[in-house]
Amino acid sequence: CGIVGYIGHREAYPVVLKGLKRLEYRGYDSAGVAIYDGKNIKLSKTKGKVVDLENRIKDEISVDGTLAIGHTRWATHGEPNDVNSHPHYSNSGELVIIHNGIIENYEPLKQELINRGYVFHSDTDTEVLVNLIEDVKKNEDVKLGKAVQIALNQVVGAYAIAVFDQKKPDEIVVARLGSPLVIGVGEDEFFIASDASPFIEYTNNAIYLEDEEMAIVRRGKKVKVRKIKDDSLVDPYVQELQLNLEQIEKGGYDHFMLKEIYEQPRAILDTFRGRMLANEGIIRMAGVDDNIEKFVNANRILIVACGTSWHAGLVAEYVFENLTRIPVEVEYASEFRYRNPIITENDVVIAISQSGETADTMAAIKLAKSKGAFVFGVCNVVGSSISRETDAGAYTHAGPEIGVASTKAFTTQITVLTLIALKLAQKKGTISKSEFHQYLSEMDAIPAKVEKTLESANHVKTIADIYKDATNFLYLGRGYNFPVALEGALKLKEISYIHAEGYPAAEMKHGPIALIDEQMPVVVIATRKGHYEKVVSNIQEIKSRKGKIIAVVMQGDKSIKKIADYVIEIPETLELLTPLLTTIPLQLLSYYIAVMRDCNVDQPRNLAKSVTVE
Ligand code: G6P
Repeated sequence: CGIVGYIGHREAYPVVLKGLKRLEYRGYDSAGVAIYDGKNIKLSKTKGKVVDLENRIKDEISVDGTLAIGHTRWATHGEPNDVNSHPHYSNSGELVIIHNGIIENYEPLKQELINRGYVFHSDTDTEVLVNLIEDVKKNEDVKLGKAVQIALNQVVGAYAIAVFDQKKPDEIVVARLGSPLVIGVGEDEFFIASDASPFIEYTNNAIYLEDEEMAIVRRGKKVKVRKIKDDSLVDPYVQELQLNLEQIEKGGYDHFMLKEIYEQPRAILDTFRGRMLANEGIIRMAGVDDNIEKFVNANRILIVACGTSWHAGLVAEYVFENLTRIPVEVEYASEFRYRNPIITENDVVIAISQSGETADTMAAIKLAKSKGAFVFGVCNVVGSSISRETDAGAYTHAGPEIGVASTKAFTTQITVLTLIALKLAQKKGTISKSEFHQYLSEMDAIPAKVEKTLESANHVKTIADIYKDATNFLYLGRGYNFPVALEGALKLKEISYIHAEGYPAAEMKHGPIALIDEQMPVVVIATRKGHYEKVVSNIQEIKSRKGKIIAVVMQGDKSIKKIADYVIEIPETLELLTPLLTTIPLQLLSYYIAVMRDCNVDQPRNLAKSVTVE
């Protein structure tokens, strides 16, 4: 989610509205503002994008006032609708809050507040927080800042908040733990935001709050920063920003693609957080749980998708068949829709789409539905057309993906699909209890292992520099990593315009081997458990034809190190989960090569992020 606030001498609404548009990349399924004009709070919010809010406000409220807060939401829990949108009032209507993050212990807090007579209008944890603050403020007879501090000490979770009090209209109280929050310091005016992009044209001076810090931002006064835990004062560090608007939106990375590659540990965690309880041995996914009989009784599962999402589908085919013993077929949505496919009511169709808008995938879904199949969606964009058209689904929660070449969407799609397969395997009893537990605890460790894999970036960059001028690349993998080879080749084609092919390693001898000479770099994914010896002999075959070998191996590998020109290591994990790690260096390799070739990484020629034509 994105949060914005303003307090000063300007009209606040235009500043906040423009800020929300800049932060829309952080989430865009609902938006809202609260403006204070010295007498009244005026609040407007809606499901949809910031422009929907802008249109609604025109007939709903007057927008004058020099204090305002605004929010753009990326729903993780609770559907995006008007009521769940931010800002939220406290029961008395005196406090207004915007919040980014999750209050994990909101249920007991809510129950306690209900017992004391509080009434709740939304399903959000945010409304619990604002009433908790109000409750503390009244009971302890303290000012807003103190009430926020006491309340936050009762809260478990992550947050960036901004709250103001109608009775004290000269200040906004902000706090952060785990979600970003920055205060722009102007002349007699302050800006509050999730990143500096909403205020960069007004001021270069910014205070980045640290975790467990809060601040009172008061008109005409210095910003006071305190520790939430013990209320001690902190000397705020006012930083001079050197970045321009575009750089800020990219979080300091040179490109969105690189930012998104680095977001993967977090994105994968967000995808299984709350769904997989590794210690308890539980997987909960409403869309699957509600339709569990359809899944376990399916004659077969048919996966339809395009591009990178299709590659995630191929990984899922291996995972599903191995774990659940349900036959799986994967099809390009564009082929499926035009070939009079055989589908029956006993089939489950899974449609995978980052954008949720791809025209071919949409058409495949409609066709499958018309034949009576149950259609399940795996989408990233909340509220997208495909997520609405499918019978049920699970979001990937990767956060907005801006780079045209898909990265974090791919790994989170694999994460969701693996969770589904594990859930079904548990239900069907096709894997043992101990295997199930082992998968869960290994999945739990994946975000840290992705983080570790990202440490190879500099090494990958060196390899990129050596092969950046190649005209062809070959990518080879077997089993779970065959689709990863396809995806690695696609990434390179998409952004660096180098011709590349992915193959199952053993198929090389049936054709592509004819292409191998000293000019040809071959990327081989050779994790130890997946047909290791076979892959080693494939590598020997390339070597004897003078091809150059870049091997992605598991930590501690010895044999391949001896024959490959370069090796990139990934941490040890279960073979079935290796695609989540082996993909990472391939993304980095294509990224660095594209940068070195001066290509437009985020917007490669001829490609679009969301293909809504056939
Ligand atoms: C376009 C994008 C790809 C994406 C594909 C499918 O070609 O450039 O990155 O994989 O569409 O998109 P979807 O949104 O359905 O996953």
